Amino acid sequence: MKIIRLTETESTNSHAIKMIAKNRSTESCAVVANYQTNGKGLGANFWESERDKNLTFSIVLHPDFAADQQFFLNKAISLGIRDFLQSEMSISEIAIKWPNDIYVSDKKICGILIQNSLVGTSFDYSVVGIGLNVNQTRFLSDAPNPVSMKMITGIEYNLDDLLTKLLQSINKWYGRVKTEPQKVEAAYKKALYRLMEWHDYEIKGSRIGARITGTNEYGQLLIETDAGPIIICDLKEVKFLL
Ligand code: BTN
Repeated sequence: MKIIRLTETESTNSHAIKMIAKNRSTESCAVVANYQTNGKGLGANFWESERDKNLTFSIVLHPDFAADQQFFLNKAISLGIRDFLQSEMSISEIAIKWPNDIYVSDKKICGILIQNSLVGTSFDYSVVGIGLNVNQTRFLSDAPNPVSMKMITGIEYNLDDLLTKLLQSINKWYGRVKTEPQKVEAAYKKALYRLMEWHDYEIKGSRIGARITGTNEYGQLLIETDAGPIIICDLKEVKFLL
């Protein structure tokens, strides 16, 4: 995969989207920046990443599966990152926090921001933005629970080596969306943060004891409350209480 390296940009997602608008290439590539002046998180959030310390990049893809399968992309990317982290740090407590974070125990090590452009029932493109905390050890924003690879292992990592391995791992899982979708499905469910564990959540405005039982085909979270029924939740309808 072609890699475009930038010393600084506003946001690798925005850069990638502008690039697609300009050259209309259908090839996959990755845009990597040493520093983002306005890194974007989900919603209106800002993505904190110290210059030269972490991986902040976006992968441009042109998925050839149907648009209504778009949550598969999220699953494959999350599994690729998780597998990579597990083998790189030799630890197993890495989970996928629905819908777009990777956690080590109860701390966030990686955020994913996928921006899809769809045409009818197909993909035009997908820009998969990934922010992975690698060598940063102090976080200044009010993000509740950041952690980095170095904070866990004490190792100072080479960012280029990590990027190569991470792209390989993501590619492997992305390929499986077409060849082994059931495997992706099963692995994703198994990797979900807090799967089948009872915790407190704020669901549709009320605090309630509940447990995650999985996700549906649309990528919504399925959560069983202690009052009985299984509730289907969109992103804004459920808050994980730590
Ligand atoms: C989140 O946790 O809310 C998602 C964070 C995504 C951050 C990455 S860093 C690279 C890419 N470019 C951006 O502006 N955001 C994503």
